[in-house]
Amino acid sequence: MFKGRPLMRCCLLISGIVLLLGVLQFIFRPVPFGVISSCFRPSNPHPGIEPVLTQQAVPSPIATTTPGKSKKLTRRPVNQDLAFPQGLHYEQPHLLKPWRGDVLTVTSWLAPIVWEGTFDPVIIDSIYKPQNLTIATTVFAVGKYTRFLRDFLESAEKHYMVDFKVHYYVFTDQPTEVPSVNLAPGRELHVIPVPKFNRWQEISLRRMEIIQTTIEERIHKEADYIYCLDVDMKFHNRWGPEVLGSLVGAIHPWFYDFDRVHFTYERRPSSKAYIPKDQGDFYYMGCVFGGLVEEVHKLTKKCREHLEVDKSIGVEAAWQEESHLNWYFLYNKPTKLLSPEYLWDDLKGGTPREIRAVRFSSVIKNKAEVRENV
Ligand code: UDP
Ligand code: GAL
Ligand code: MN
Repeated sequence: MFKGRPLMRCCLLISGIVLLLGVLQFIFRPVPFGVISSCFRPSNPHPGIEPVLTQQAVPSPIATTTPGKSKKLTRRPVNQDLAFPQGLHYEQPHLLKPWRGDVLTVTSWLAPIVWEGTFDPVIIDSIYKPQNLTIATTVFAVGKYTRFLRDFLESAEKHYMVDFKVHYYVFTDQPTEVPSVNLAPGRELHVIPVPKFNRWQEISLRRMEIIQTTIEERIHKEADYIYCLDVDMKFHNRWGPEVLGSLVGAIHPWFYDFDRVHFTYERRPSSKAYIPKDQGDFYYMGCVFGGLVEEVHKLTKKCREHLEVDKSIGVEAAWQEESHLNWYFLYNKPTKLLSPEYLWDDLKGGTPREIRAVRFSSVIKNKAEVRENV
């Protein structure tokens, strides 16, 4: 029909291609993140019974992603309104009557420091429970550290984010050693196989890149908040939604009354974790950090990058990833801090007056026996 009319044929061809591209784009357009996750979030048909062994091995991350070249995460909208139900009765706050007169409850950048007495659990629960949040919780149990899992998980089921949807991600080199623990409805446990590195320092510091990679692979689709915890720990009291915040660090129980010059920061300028003697707010412990998935992704990515730069010049910071975490929190201030109530150490023995509740603490372990290379 268009024989002899090359211009018309050309126009028709171009519009055909444009139309085809349009159709393809419609079919393959990126679906909003919430839609994907609500469609595919694994529903646990038998919550609380058997751990789910997911087959997603985390290969040696150096081989999979190079620092700085990680996948861009799609933002999962998280409800951060503090909506409060009508008609609930509670104690009135008084400006001239501080809840706690004995401890610092807010930082110089106006982030709250959470202590017993600074929050009303009924108010906090009423605000956060309706938000339908999922809290990812990572815990590594490599080598002999699988022995700590049962107490960790059983005590978490009693005290950790009770009535919230918690997804535990247990990283281990021995999936068959993960105990079967009864989980409350809505809570899930995923076992993720990881390699065992030779040195305990390496096992500890490599958590940063494995968490980064796992956030990129799946956690960004599966959770709103993420808390990364040591396994050689036990819960004793409420560890609830008062800990939720964008970026959350926990103050180390051994150093909270020390001057900053005595903090065990990395002091060699050659390390990316270097902090000069006249700098620093608090000494944070590597056993607990958390916050919104997106914020923790930034944290793990930066710490992983810095760990690898150090490694390339043969430097290992004084306290491995904990030193890099302290550097990160100095230059990216946490929006909420957990007092040492949230991270105690059984080695400290009795508790001083300011610690009104020990909520979570490191158990005493024989380091020479449980660690690989001691
Ligand atoms: N870890 C592990 N296997 C090891 C060494 C460490 O699974 O052989 C993990 C485990 O989650 C542990 C964390 O790394 O809680 C940090 O190590 P550790 O608790 O020994 O350090 P500490 O708290 O004593 O400084
Ligand atoms: C210890 C703790 C280590 C590290 C160190 C920092 O008490 O066991 O994990 O945090 O303090 O000086
Ligand atoms: Mn520990």
